[in-house]
Amino acid sequence: QTEIITITDVKAQREELARAGKVLRGGGLVAFPTETVYGLGANGLDAAACARIYEAKGRPSDNPLILHVSDRAMVEMIAAEVTPMAEKLLAAFMPGPITLILRRKAIVPDRITGGLDTVGIRMPEHPVARAMIRAAGVPIAAPSANISGRPSPTTAASVLRDMDGRIPLILDGGPCHFGVESTIVDCTGPVAVILRPGAITREMLTEVLGGCKLDPALVGADTVPRAPGMKYKHYAPKAPLTLLEGDAAKMAAAFRRQVRRLQGEGHTVGVLASHEVCESLQDLVPEELLKDYGPQGDLLAIAAHIYEELIAFNDTQADVLLGEGTTEKGLGLAIMNRLHKASAFHSLKIS
Ligand code: TXA
Ligand code: MG
Repeated sequence: QTEIITITDVKAQREELARAGKVLRGGGLVAFPTETVYGLGANGLDAAACARIYEAKGRPSDNPLILHVSDRAMVEMIAAEVTPMAEKLLAAFMPGPITLILRRKAIVPDRITGGLDTVGIRMPEHPVARAMIRAAGVPIAAPSANISGRPSPTTAASVLRDMDGRIPLILDGGPCHFGVESTIVDCTGPVAVILRPGAITREMLTEVLGGCKLDPALVGADTVPRAPGMKYKHYAPKAPLTLLEGDAAKMAAAFRRQVRRLQGEGHTVGVLASHEVCESLQDLVPEELLKDYGPQGDLLAIAAHIYEELIAFNDTQADVLLGEGTTEKGLGLAIMNRLHKASAFHSLKIS
């Protein structure tokens, strides 16, 4: 009973988008594409509508939702103050794959902020997301459109897998460009703090702001992350994942050793790795268990593929997974953050 509408042309398909807007204004849920991952949207000013998001996802109720806006006027509607730091980020990166944490206005329901006096604000760049928000005419609360704890969907088919029968409508805008969730930047203090790394990189933020910090919880320290959702087990495939990290030139040999060892113990081994490593394992690992995430070091390709491939292992017999790590520079920081969480920080250092 979940309907899927493919949107290829937002101008020609005004009627379909108007329908999505109507569902949202009526308190219903609509899944929609963004340039990062698919979102599960509801009217962000309607607490009852937002409650349906928590129900459909099985999301813990203390985990706040971010609000998606189509323009600057909607930012003003929900932010108590757009600080000079936020102004710079708006000018440089919005619309785009970034979420700003700002003090909120009272119009934002308590239900969605988990009791915080701040709100996450994101202005997506994807034409379908923008047209849908405009059609709804209100800020749209939207977490990633997955069941809580599973990898975020980057295709409409993956949304359907988790949400079939739970929501009335999915807008299909094709696969998402970046494939990892937006960078979350806390703009409420004197220095910008990255709460979740994404496609707007630490390096890009530093260039625009002159400096920025990483939430200590991201660098492995045993502190509670300030983005509440980052504390939960996340992005997890069903089979346990171990990462191999380190010297790229030694990866293929290291994978061979680990695959042989695990197969020797009777395991069915799935591999998520670069094109180079996958090629070198073709004689050891059957094709359906070998997921190629792109050329070694091609961070845009890797980000775009990791979630879908983690999801795809659930259709195989794999009972253990090995994944190849990459650099933590640029977009690599976001990729490694997701892979570390997917592997519950199980990793082997290759040197
Ligand atoms: O790319 C994205 O951001 C996607 C697309 C759909 O826009 N959305 C997304 O939402 O990833 P979600 O709910 O899966 O992740 C948002 C994160 C959660 O970890 C949540 O705890 C955190 O943002 N968050 C929300 N409001 C916050 C606040 N006021 N302060 C700190 N963290 C907050
Ligand atoms: Mg999520």
